[in-house]
Amino acid sequence: MHSLVKSGHPAKQRAGCVMVGVFERRTLSAAAAALDQASGNALGSALRRGDLDGKAGQTLLLHHVPKLVADRVLLVGLGRERDFDAAAYRKACATAARALRATGAIDAVSYLTHLPVKGRDVAAAVRDAALVTADEFYRFDAFRGARAREDLPPLRLERISFDVPRRSDLPAAETALAQGQAMAAGVAFTKDLGNTPPNVCTPSWLAEQARALARAHASVKVRVLDRVAMKKLGMGALLAVARGSRQPPRLIVLEYLRGAKGDKPVALVGKGITFDTGGISIKPSDKMDEMKFDMCGAASVLGTFKAVAQLGLPVNLVGVVPTCENMPGGEATRPGDIVTSMAGITIEVLNTDAEGRLILCDALTYAEKHYQPAVCVDVATLTGAIVVALGAFPSGLFSNTPALARSLLEAGEDIGDRAWQLPLWEDYQPMLRSEHADVANISGGREAGSITAASFLHRFTRKMKWAHLDIAATAWKAKRATGRPVPLLTRWLAEYARRTEPAVK
Ligand code: BES
Ligand code: MN
Ligand code: ZN
Repeated sequence: MHSLVKSGHPAKQRAGCVMVGVFERRTLSAAAAALDQASGNALGSALRRGDLDGKAGQTLLLHHVPKLVADRVLLVGLGRERDFDAAAYRKACATAARALRATGAIDAVSYLTHLPVKGRDVAAAVRDAALVTADEFYRFDAFRGARAREDLPPLRLERISFDVPRRSDLPAAETALAQGQAMAAGVAFTKDLGNTPPNVCTPSWLAEQARALARAHASVKVRVLDRVAMKKLGMGALLAVARGSRQPPRLIVLEYLRGAKGDKPVALVGKGITFDTGGISIKPSDKMDEMKFDMCGAASVLGTFKAVAQLGLPVNLVGVVPTCENMPGGEATRPGDIVTSMAGITIEVLNTDAEGRLILCDALTYAEKHYQPAVCVDVATLTGAIVVALGAFPSGLFSNTPALARSLLEAGEDIGDRAWQLPLWEDYQPMLRSEHADVANISGGREAGSITAASFLHRFTRKMKWAHLDIAATAWKAKRATGRPVPLLTRWLAEYARRTEPAVK
């Protein structure tokens, strides 16, 4: 699908569909009022018949509207005018996209981008609309049979224009559109990786996808470390998790160095467990299929690289992605085993299902030793407890640097991919005490599971400005990958690159 921005009168759009908003109690938005006037009150009379009140989520498709050159008009309910905020705006864009997808329209023009939202400019409106629309048009059909694929309803839309009120808005809108599209491309890539079944999406396959990404973007360089290289580096924690699987582990290292020479990079680290059975501490089988999404942290790092490369952001960015499969077996790590991490810290593995922190601690140490990053952010489907604590709306955020936490929270808020901060106090550290090693990989009790997991990682990140995003509740929804937190990370990196004196540098 091709997206563009333009500025023109809604009645003069020669398109398959023109989309305009209606607030509750049939209150026409400005663009809807313009159409109503041009059509001799065709919209008003359709509304008076009672087919649409303007509640959020409602749509009404009109054909043959008199005096308009467009084939169809899609009326989109916006809810109450005084409650119309950025979240309601995004919802309206999603509703419109879903309704549009069900039509046969080949091209469409949206006037939702004209809607005033408090504290937001037209650039934000275009960026959001592009991202949300692409999200609704995403499909994952690679694994359906030939027959079923023929029966899929075709996506007919070829072109969508986001209209802006003034011609002088166009330059800013162009930039915003490019940002929305780049994020959408990153999100789609992350979704594809996440949705791919675990018999295909293995550590080696994931590494191959990273290589393909580097082939597509000359600015991205990739190195892949194998078991032998990891052994040399002393990555005993990562290797302990990989032991039970026939699939060999990989450490994928990405570099995108388009910032100032000598500027320390931002490091992104992503958990890449391609399937988490729990290992010897095996999980119950109910919903175990969803543990194919346990590589979504890795996928979101790759997706963010895609978005950043597509945008050509002036930033130095590196990615470290540890990936392996957590399986039981004759060679698998046992509860009670003690392993030595790359940092030299010994870890008593009391539960083999707390494997994410084991692969991450070595990846974080690698990032620190190899790159001395200005900032390090890891992304991981780390704990079931974060679902209990926060529900499925925000990702969990932890950081040892308040300014870094603040900037990440802001970026998420701005792009509708929110995070919520939890504490990382020293009070929690004694909960990870081990009888025999430097640290245990779980705490004894059931309390504060996400915080103790983050606290475990913090043992390995003290020397860095570091943040951790626990995305166990947000990376997938109803068995489908969401692509989160690619929008948050991309938005954050765009701001980071823009600032000459970043708050977190
Ligand atoms: N990948 C899981 C976390 C997870 C569980 C994400 C359910 C989404 C849904 C992680 O490796 C894990 O198993 N964590 C354990 C930690 C526990 C053993 C301390 C958990 O959350 O139960
Ligand atoms: Mn696990
Ligand atoms: Zn896991």
